[in-house]
Amino acid sequence: MRILHFSDVHLPFPEGALRDPAVLHPKRLLALVNFRLRRSNKYAQAQQKLDGLCDFLRREPVDWILYTGDTMNLGLEKEYMEDAEPIARVLAMARKGALAVPGNHDLYARASLRHYRRHFAPRFPKSDDPAAAVGAKGSPGGFPSIRYMGEEAVAIGLDSAVPRFPFWDSSGRLDSAELEALGRLLDSPEVARRKWIFVMTHYPFLDTDYLHGLRHTAPFWELMEGRKNVVLLHGHNHRIYLKQGPGGVPVFCAGSLSKRGAESFWLFEPFAGSLNARRGVWRNARFSLDPVGDP
Ligand SMILES: [Fe+2]
Ligand SMILES: [Fe+2]
Repeated sequence: MRILHFSDVHLPFPEGALRDPAVLHPKRLLALVNFRLRRSNKYAQAQQKLDGLCDFLRREPVDWILYTGDTMNLGLEKEYMEDAEPIARVLAMARKGALAVPGNHDLYARASLRHYRRHFAPRFPKSDDPAAAVGAKGSPGGFPSIRYMGEEAVAIGLDSAVPRFPFWDSSGRLDSAELEALGRLLDSPEVARRKWIFVMTHYPFLDTDYLHGLRHTAPFWELMEGRKNVVLLHGHNHRIYLKQGPGGVPVFCAGSLSKRGAESFWLFEPFAGSLNARRGVWRNARFSLDPVGDP
């Protein structure tokens, strides 16, 4: 079984996206200045990197694809209209199925929720158990989502992105109702019996900085206590790494698929009781697997 995890594509603005009056939202104006000054160059080839991922998937097919969000930049309607399709095409290349969660750039302001529901949710793979979703406040709904990956593994998606007005606050949050629903899922025999339980969200589980990190993590870590079969996946930090959380739970950040000079993804292959994790790297204008194979 092969599982690919990627994140943070940040596709360039589609033609005409910035003519939207919504760009005058103060948070977006400041972000746009920041983007023009610091970021746009680094992600200018994002579509080529996404094409490169498709090329990799044709050469090295995988069974499941997990995506942890940040498809766009400012959550403008044109971005929703144009950006869902290229991501959906990649997700559809998994032989058996895929699961996606939104990033903070996909739920940038209040109106983003409406756009996400309209343009993204219908194109992204549906949960295997829609009844498990609690539709938390401020969320586009549909979370936690779940994908049963054969008899041995399962992926559960949480929405930690929160549309916030102040530009200085880019923190995420795990919602209480969503965490309770996660607890019910983890305790259900159908999930608990599996050897590998991947829990994924956009925000880093271990970064709790008040203004930029993930809030309300204490009940999450309580839920994780004593669960030996959990693997945590996230994006948001645009550098790939593996860390250990409380109790030794592995926490993988996929980095950014498209950041120039740091393009990355993870490829997981559970085998004989252990999880083989390899990095995807961009070399000579194509993705390949890091030959070292050591996370
Ligand atoms: Fe990002
Ligand atoms: Fe992010």
